[in-house]
Amino acid sequence: MSNVVVVGAQWGDEGKGRIVDWLAEKADIVVRYNGGHNAGHTLVVDGRTYKLALLPSGVVRGKLGLIGNGVALDPEALLAEIDRMAAMGIRVTPEVLQIAETATLVLPVHRAIDAAQERMRAKPLGTTLRGIGPAYEDKVGRRGLRVCDLAEPELLAQKLDVLLEHHNAWLRGSGQEPFPRDPMLNDLLAMAPRILPFVGRVWEQLDHAHSSGKRVVFEGSQAVMLDVDWGSYPYVTSSSTIAAGAASGAGIAPSHLGRVLGVSKVYATRVGEGPFTSELDGALGDELRERGGEYGVNTGRPRRCGWLDTVQLRQSCKVAGINQLALTKLDVLDGFESVQLCVGYMLDGARIDYMPSTNAEQQRLQPVLRRFDGWVGSTRGVRSYGDLPPQAAALIDAIQNEVGVPVAMVTTGPERDDAIVLQPPFA
Ligand code: IMP
Repeated sequence: MSNVVVVGAQWGDEGKGRIVDWLAEKADIVVRYNGGHNAGHTLVVDGRTYKLALLPSGVVRGKLGLIGNGVALDPEALLAEIDRMAAMGIRVTPEVLQIAETATLVLPVHRAIDAAQERMRAKPLGTTLRGIGPAYEDKVGRRGLRVCDLAEPELLAQKLDVLLEHHNAWLRGSGQEPFPRDPMLNDLLAMAPRILPFVGRVWEQLDHAHSSGKRVVFEGSQAVMLDVDWGSYPYVTSSSTIAAGAASGAGIAPSHLGRVLGVSKVYATRVGEGPFTSELDGALGDELRERGGEYGVNTGRPRRCGWLDTVQLRQSCKVAGINQLALTKLDVLDGFESVQLCVGYMLDGARIDYMPSTNAEQQRLQPVLRRFDGWVGSTRGVRSYGDLPPQAAALIDAIQNEVGVPVAMVTTGPERDDAIVLQPPFA
């Protein structure tokens, strides 16, 4: 079995893009299976920074990229990203990108509804305002438009009417202007000739890849704690971010997925609202944010920062099927006098070792912290475990022991090869 699923093991922004890029060099195909352009995957290749949102990270290396049916695809955002890549010298053609016919379309009305819903919530969720949630709502509400609909202009118009009837009833009912159909329809029809050449049977590509022994990387977006089932609901995204989501969101048997590599920083960050037990509010949090460059790739939002939560990470590994860990950004902890790990929670005076399900309980958790000595000197660019300061090695060992999942690699800088590889990526 030579496939790898890459899953964010915290709240997103763990550095999955660069891990996928590293794996992509050794793989044949990279597949996106969930989320949309709410994701932000940063890669640094030969000193150039590429910021991807919808395109599978392998496109930068000319690997075949597939966008599965589980993705929410904004055609405008996709074309803009393809144009941005072209300006950087990366040509995205139908030879290197295929999109599932059945992927859900994100439309301008979804962006408008996303913003309106956030405005009307007593406690906003802090969404990326990209329209992702409303597009998935339409999908499961069975009124969504799909990529294949772009090929049928008359049906497209009819389906758009049905979709707008639903949304405009809500907009009118909440005292807002209804959303007009024609500009949206015209834009979709204008974009269709550029999108349709990319459309194909992704499931079939994956079937061929499997029978011919090709190596596939499944590139998860967001993370376990933002999963619609397993995250801190309702402060989650609207898709299945875990390894099981790769099977249903791309069209492949779960038994063909291979290894599941969970990516986690050696500390923790979260954007948007929601519980974050090990969050650091004061100067230490600010220092982590500045040292780690913790600002959203696409939105520029400052990220909330805190210590690594090994209880959250252990539980995430179990529910997401993670059987190897990639720890990222070790070098960001260089120079801290001490470093802490959250190794348990106190809930109403009792110690627990799991993340409770209700939001109210999650908000009441107090972290049980374990202190580690920091280290003098730099881990930046270190590529061998033996070259790490003993305190940094001890921290990695402690994370592995608390979580109970082997650490396959540790990254020590932004360049692709700034990494310590402890276990080879493909079986
Ligand atoms: P939505 O996906 O835009 O609906 O946002 C829902 C929640 O997921 C918000 O808290 C977002 O900040 C978060 N989110 C969505 N995509 C990402 C991502 O790629 N990285 C980190 N957080 C994300």
